[in-house]
Amino acid sequence: MITCVHRIDTQTDSDTILLTEEAELIKNGQLVAFPTETVYGLGADALDPTAALRIYEAKGRPSDNPLIVHISDISQAEMISASIPETARKLAEAFWPGPLTIILNKNEMVPDETTGGLKTVAVRMPSHPVARALIEQSGCMIAAPSANTSGRPSPTTAQHVYEDMNGKIPMIIDGGSVGIGIESTIVDCTTDVPMILRPGYVTADMVEEICGAVAIDPGIISEDSGIKPKAPGMKYRHYAPKAPLKIVEGDIEKVISYINAQIMASPEEIVGVIATDETKSRYNSEKVFSVGTRADDETVARNLYAVLREMDEVGVTCIFSESFKEQHLGAAIMNRLLKAAGHTVIDV
Ligand code: TXA
Ligand code: MG
Repeated sequence: MITCVHRIDTQTDSDTILLTEEAELIKNGQLVAFPTETVYGLGADALDPTAALRIYEAKGRPSDNPLIVHISDISQAEMISASIPETARKLAEAFWPGPLTIILNKNEMVPDETTGGLKTVAVRMPSHPVARALIEQSGCMIAAPSANTSGRPSPTTAQHVYEDMNGKIPMIIDGGSVGIGIESTIVDCTTDVPMILRPGYVTADMVEEICGAVAIDPGIISEDSGIKPKAPGMKYRHYAPKAPLKIVEGDIEKVISYINAQIMASPEEIVGVIATDETKSRYNSEKVFSVGTRADDETVARNLYAVLREMDEVGVTCIFSESFKEQHLGAAIMNRLLKAAGHTVIDV
């Protein structure tokens, strides 16, 4: 299959985005990759079971891992859910369109292929103008996981999508680099107290402010707990570069010394280091990548996946990463980094 790339300049074309061919592909049950404000998505008609199955095939994704349904109007959430609880309405009002996914009880309109057989459905209204144009112009709700091959870091540029999906899908819409860089926050609103199943740009504090109370899925806090995460996708080793990754935690001077000692002690290894603007000049390796400044965790979130992919490209044989504070957006950054590292943490 030939994969076309359609470049859209969202700065100049925002009011006039025309996606005629892409909308037609979606209507015909085909796959289109598109930018959202979080990461690139791999879209198909959410109500077409055959189209949903094509997503699993292109990604090599386990079939028990459900898809998020992207909508452009709240009435579509009403159309596919059994009911919308008060907490979900408040969250939608506060954060939609935006990087928040809400879990609702589904109705019979949503095929099992889209929800991995679950009786609930994940719904998100993205804010990215291209994502919204694709939903509106196709007239379909769009099921879309991140547009990476299963297990690889999520794509934050169309180039990343092309690396993983070339030859497997007919169309990629290139809307430039995404703004946020990590996937949406997932909140389960089917329980009395809403529960965060995946941390993201919308933090626990922000959800609590709207709902009064919020729980965090104990299954995502530690892999040792033996508790299964409620979001099926959170159980997989994800976002992972090819080389083994270890996170080094502790006083930053000790972290730098430890990593440099490891570089010295293993001359046969090509050691990659995930550092920050503040520390990148301190490491004795040629493969040091900064994810941005510690003063701005939004920059760190935006760069993280690109850096993980770059590690694959430059062919490192092992990777050490600095650690980040788990507050605010840091909770989502550390969640993704810990998954990439298979929870290997060295305390120094
Ligand atoms: O930011 C995002 O959410 C991106 C963009 C493209 O919108 N999408 C995304 O999709 O990250 P994906 O498929 O890579 O991750 C979806 C996560 C998976 O962990 C999946 O298990 C979980 O959502 N999920 C989907 N439906 C669910 C449900 N009904 N109950 C619990 N978890 C669900
Ligand atoms: Mg994903």
